Amino acid sequence: MTAPATHHVAVRDTRLAVHTAGSGLPLLLLHGFPLDHGMWTRQEPLAEQLRLIVPDQRGFGGSSGPVPESMEQLADDAVALLDALHVAGPAVVCGLSMGGYVAQHVAARHPDRVAALILVDTRLEADTPDVRAGRVDLAAKVGRLGQGLVADAMIPRLLAPSPATRSATGRGDIEAELRRMIVSQPVATIQAALAALGARPDMTEAMRKLRAPALLVVGAEDLITPPACMEQAQQVIPESRLLVVPGAGHMTPLESPDVFNAAVLEFLRRPVTP
Ligand code: MLT
Repeated sequence: MTAPATHHVAVRDTRLAVHTAGSGLPLLLLHGFPLDHGMWTRQEPLAEQLRLIVPDQRGFGGSSGPVPESMEQLADDAVALLDALHVAGPAVVCGLSMGGYVAQHVAARHPDRVAALILVDTRLEADTPDVRAGRVDLAAKVGRLGQGLVADAMIPRLLAPSPATRSATGRGDIEAELRRMIVSQPVATIQAALAALGARPDMTEAMRKLRAPALLVVGAEDLITPPACMEQAQQVIPESRLLVVPGAGHMTPLESPDVFNAAVLEFLRRPVTP
């Protein structure tokens, strides 16, 4: 398999770093908060069958500012990126957590661009007032104390908490990768993204109207968007399948890449609605 190529692409009012590999049906992979394309490295084997398009969303990773303002804006960036890469037909749009919120907006705002939706460790609902208040508090603290504080606060909640999975081989590597990604995100991006996450709308009614087929994946030990969130989404999204992955937390594609990658391929083997 050839290594992914990195491009810098002018997209609307910004420049996005994007990693591409493979050919065939395009699969857009949208990262969670406060991460970047690096969370999808274990999905590279999918490039043997699919055209992987893995951006750093605006302000994150190798993408320059301006900082993110809303999930709608990030969704429009994603579609403009597909245009810039000459992806003419519909793509499979996959997002984890914040990336999942963005993916839902892509499907709602640009339904003709979505062949299928893959929502991973995410939810349809807006924040509760308590969660929103927690984001305001975290944004203030990161301004005073830096990104290390976000890594300390988030990493224990991103990964499966049970003793067996905590001591599993490779867990230390995953924690180190997550820390490296989190501390390298600009403070201004983290603060702006927290505000955008807190302001995002409830997508339940929009997802009730989804016409594309959807695969919903969640770690059985996800503490941030527990399986109940995706069970709820399955009740709402007309053509959806749910996979609950044992032993995974909020970062299922990193924690259980073989199960995740096989589930994506199996889902895409059935005809997808253009
Ligand atoms: C993420 O993983 O993207 C975040 O946990 C999303 C969120 O805080 O809602």
